Amino acid sequence: MEIIIAVLILLSGYLFLRWQWSGRKHEGLLRRLPPGSMGWPYVGETLKFYTQHPNTFFSKRRKRYGDIFKSNILGCPCVMVSSPEAIKVVLVSQAHLFKPTYPPSKERMIGPNAVFFHQGDYHSMLKKLILTSFLPAAIKGSVQQIENEALKLLHAWEMAANPLHALEGMSQYAFDVAMLSVFGDKQEVEIEGIKYLYQILEKGYNSMPLDFPGTPFHKAMKARKKLNKTMMKLIEKRRSSGEYGGGLVGVMLRAQRENVRNLSDDQIADNIIGVIFAAHDTTASVLTWLLKYLHDNADVLDCVTKEQEELQRKLRLQGLRRLTWDDTRQMSYTTRVIQETLRSASILSFTFREAVEDVEFQGFVIPKGWKVLPLFRTMHHSPDFFPQPQKFDPSRFTVSPRPNTYMPFGHGVHSCPGSELAKLEMLILLHHLTTNYRWKVFGEEDAIQYGPFPVPKGGLPIHFYRRVNVYE
Ligand code: HEM
Repeated sequence: MEIIIAVLILLSGYLFLRWQWSGRKHEGLLRRLPPGSMGWPYVGETLKFYTQHPNTFFSKRRKRYGDIFKSNILGCPCVMVSSPEAIKVVLVSQAHLFKPTYPPSKERMIGPNAVFFHQGDYHSMLKKLILTSFLPAAIKGSVQQIENEALKLLHAWEMAANPLHALEGMSQYAFDVAMLSVFGDKQEVEIEGIKYLYQILEKGYNSMPLDFPGTPFHKAMKARKKLNKTMMKLIEKRRSSGEYGGGLVGVMLRAQRENVRNLSDDQIADNIIGVIFAAHDTTASVLTWLLKYLHDNADVLDCVTKEQEELQRKLRLQGLRRLTWDDTRQMSYTTRVIQETLRSASILSFTFREAVEDVEFQGFVIPKGWKVLPLFRTMHHSPDFFPQPQKFDPSRFTVSPRPNTYMPFGHGVHSCPGSELAKLEMLILLHHLTTNYRWKVFGEEDAIQYGPFPVPKGGLPIHFYRRVNVYE
């Protein structure tokens, strides 16, 4: 009996000391958290975050608390960072301490094997394969196929009744280019099914994750299962015919044949779906902003048109030849307009990471499990790095931005492998758009909506018409 009592006393003493120690540790942590407001219990600052203009939400807090501040979004405590140095630490120099993090519902929908969700060897193996398909050397050969897609869109717009919904058209264009880059240009029966199912999937992607019959989420999850089956059929067909075909699927099937880390069919399918996701809405939103900025800045539109007309004259002198990769490398002013659009629109206002342990960070502590948000938009709109940030001024890119201040495609190991493709499809579209067409924007001046990225309100309704082309 005495032994039991002694053990109990010792045990409670030990538990008391541990509790005191962890309480002190917790208090210590709390004292060293970055400044900021955690908002209301549970909802935190979520409502303000999703209803205020993104520039307002971030800049108010940055002014009050500085470059590093805490908040609470969707029930998750988080730290937001906006200085180039701090962002570099999170995404590059200490990237191993901050893992990528997504809501479980999104992971289920895209597929848990997709590149975004991973770190380490598996991530680098996938990233290499994806880059093999999207680096300039790989996409050089698709200029004319992309040009066909651009001409298809512009022709459809010319034939359609005004007003047009710019975002919808850009979304179709970006989707068709994404399909081309992941499947190649081979005609396969499965592709139509994949397009159809993908659209149902995408509708449910931003809905509440309620998995009951009838909800968009439930429909999307059903479509995801069918999408997997169709992808498996396509993969099996390509493999058994020995014709692996083009696009990312071809690259992945060849890697599988060479036994690269036992790449499975599920891993291939999740990554194909993931890349289409990453390529589609992002590019469509930036293209929509391009239309808006060119419309609002007539002098910039004139300069782009002049550059593109020069090129058009050259193409005609050379026997009406088609655009090539080298032509797109000569579009220096148009490239600066794209760079400025990416800065000004900053459609990925931030990204998410999660601290894998308590991290000492520039005099503060970020506790394990807290989300960390590098604020790209805040940095892109800081007058310290981009004077008169509210002005749309492509000439600012005549000189390179200061290191680590411009990250429209992210930074570090998880940076965007599709940046060259996205810029290429913009350049090709702008060539035909500015030389042959004009558009008028309807609607509120600067209102925005999320679809899911910030885009002009109403998806930018436009009146679209052919202009007189001096070279026709
Ligand atoms: C203008 C259009 C685009 C923008 C603004 C954009 C932006 C970004 C950003 C900021 C990231 C990094 C996210 C992070 O660090 O958490 C990223 C990642 C990624 N993007 Fe893009 N992207 C665009 C188009 C594309 C295209 C066309 C593709 C097609 C290949 C693509 C594929 C990806 C993939 C697969 C990742 C994940 C990379 C990884 O986790 O290692 N993106 N993108």
